[in-house]
This record gives sequence, structure tokens and C-alpha cells, in this order.
Amino acid sequence: MIKKGEVILAPMAGYTHSAFRRLCKELGADRTYSELMNATGIVNRGEERELAYFTPLERPIHLQVYGRNPEEIAKAAAVLAEKYRPEAIDINFGCSVKKVLKAKAAGYLLQFPKVMGEIVRETVEALKPYSVPVSAKIRLGFYEDNLKEIAENLLKGGVSLIALHPRTAKQGFSGEADWSKVKLLKEIAGEVPVVGSGDIKTWKEIERKFEEFNCDGVMVGRAAVSNPWIFKEYREKRDIEVPLKERVDFILRELSLMWEFFPKEKACKVIKAHITQIFKGIRGKARFNELVMKSKDCKELIDNLKRVKQTTLQI
Ligand SMILES: Cc1cc2nc3c(=O)[nH]c(=O)nc-3n(C[C@H](O)[C@H](O)[C@H](O)COP(=O)(O)O)c2cc1C
Repeated sequence: MIKKGEVILAPMAGYTHSAFRRLCKELGADRTYSELMNATGIVNRGEERELAYFTPLERPIHLQVYGRNPEEIAKAAAVLAEKYRPEAIDINFGCSVKKVLKAKAAGYLLQFPKVMGEIVRETVEALKPYSVPVSAKIRLGFYEDNLKEIAENLLKGGVSLIALHPRTAKQGFSGEADWSKVKLLKEIAGEVPVVGSGDIKTWKEIERKFEEFNCDGVMVGRAAVSNPWIFKEYREKRDIEVPLKERVDFILRELSLMWEFFPKEKACKVIKAHITQIFKGIRGKARFNELVMKSKDCKELIDNLKRVKQTTLQI
């Protein structure tokens, strides 16, 4: 299902839509994931349309679903497989934001490894007619590390790939990702591919993770949002300094691609969070961010981005 050594764009709600995925693939990402989509919304309301949208350029792609129980998740997965034919359906068992935990979904289920296994089993079964495999994205556990039991249940259920963000749900993003657990998971998983996700900041760290932890793939999340060129840096084995002009051009291209699947003004709102990330580390970023944030509509945003581009300041 995955070639050894793949570098993957991690799923990130609000950022990893079709436009950003395409640009990251172009820069060298080997595989992409959609952001998490709610199973009930998919089954009852066809709510996934904007988030499940992708083009062939983003393949191989995993469409990610989250929910609360096996039937609901399996049903939603079948809808996605039938409509979109992705390379895999991924089940989110990691998200630990308040709203999701309150709904007893996603990361909440880390407390119930048997239910996680059952969800995978039913989803694998539901996807057989489409020949679409099931992957899972997990954390170490909920309050504490329960990786072994979780992994064993997922494997028993027939999972085809496991991506691990080696922190507990309670940890959120605090502390450090414990990559030794990625290695341990690979020992448990045997032939089933294992992908590590957490705290990658530079292309050299990607290289080190492959060397030290025996994983099949490495995911890049937050670092790719502020520096999507990290995929190119890894491929070319060199640091790349990206000037302000090129950063603005990246955003303008991303925006025009977003208009394929988001209403125009919605895209201009959504992209603002990304713009502030792309300006990280740039001299004069406070002033640029202010210009961007106060833009009231698409026209003003684009005019302001063009003004930023014309400034003589460089990194
Ligand atoms: C803003 C944001 C949104 C995220 N959304 C998702 C998501 O939709 N599905 C998912 O499995 N993980 C999600 N994650 C977790 C990331 O995929 C990744 O595992 C985590 O950020 C650790 O990797 P990093 O340090 O490279 O960012 C999200 C993370 C961030 C920061």
C-alpha cells in the first residue's frame, strides 16, 4: 500500500484541502490525506463535498473519516469509497479537540481498543466491494500509553497501515512526540506499514527518523504549513531559502485553486490562517499580517498581497 521511505503531508483541518495538497505534491510530497470528515454528516447530509474534493494530482490520497461507532463509520467510509475512489479510507482515532471528545468520537475511542478494532473490521468489510483498504491514524492512548493493545486490535481488525502521532490525547501538542514508540509499533505491526507523525521541523529530521526508527513513512504537519518547500528540501537534500515574492505567489496560486471547490469569499477567509504561517520568519511579517487580516473581501486581500509582494524587504 505504501513504498518504504514515503514522505507524507499530514492531515490538518483547515489547511490540507485539495489546493494545498496539490501544491505539496508538486513540491515532492509522496502521499496526501484529507482532513477529518464527520461520519454522520457524510451519511445523512452529504456534508463532505468541499472536504472530500480532490484531483488526480493528489493521489495517492487517504480520505479521513471520524465518528463514534462501527456502523456509522463503516457506512460513511463506503459512501466515500463509492463516490471518490481514493487509495484508502483513513479512520481518525487521534483528534482530541473538545467538541469531538464531547461527541465521544475520534480520540475519545483511544480508551476503547476493542471498539477501535471493531470499527476497522466493519469498515474493511464495508469497503470490500470497492477494493479500498483501511488505514488508521492514532495516538499512544488517551490518558496514558496503551499502544500495544490498540495496535493489536487494529491489526486483528485488518488495518492496512497505521500512522502514529506518539503523544497521548491528554497531552494534546504539549511535550515531545516520543518516536521510540513508532519503532515499537513497527515491531508489533510486522508487515503492516507504519508511519510516524510529530514534531518534524526540518528535512534533515525526516532523514534521521527513517534511519533511527525503522518506519515506512514520515508525516510532516505543522512544518509543511509554514514551509511547504520542506518536501523539495528533502528530495534535493539541501536547505532552500524561499523569498517573500515566491511565498506570496504560492498563496495566490493556492487561492485560485481553492476557488474550484470553495465559494470565492469563503476561500479568502480560510486562507488567512495559512498566510500568517507562510510569513513566519519573514522580516516585516507583523505589518504584512496586519494588512492581510484587515482585508475585508477577496479583492482587498489580493490587492494587499500584491502590495506585500512589491515590498523590497526579503528574508
Ligand atoms: C491545525 C491542525 C489540524 C489537524 N487536523 C488533523 C486532522 O484533521 N486529522 C488528523 O488525523 N490529524 C490532524 N492533526 C494532527 C496532525 O496530522 C499531526 O499528526 C500532528 O500535528 C503532529 O505532527 P506535526 O508536529 O508534524 O504537526 C492536526 C494538527 C494540526 C496542527
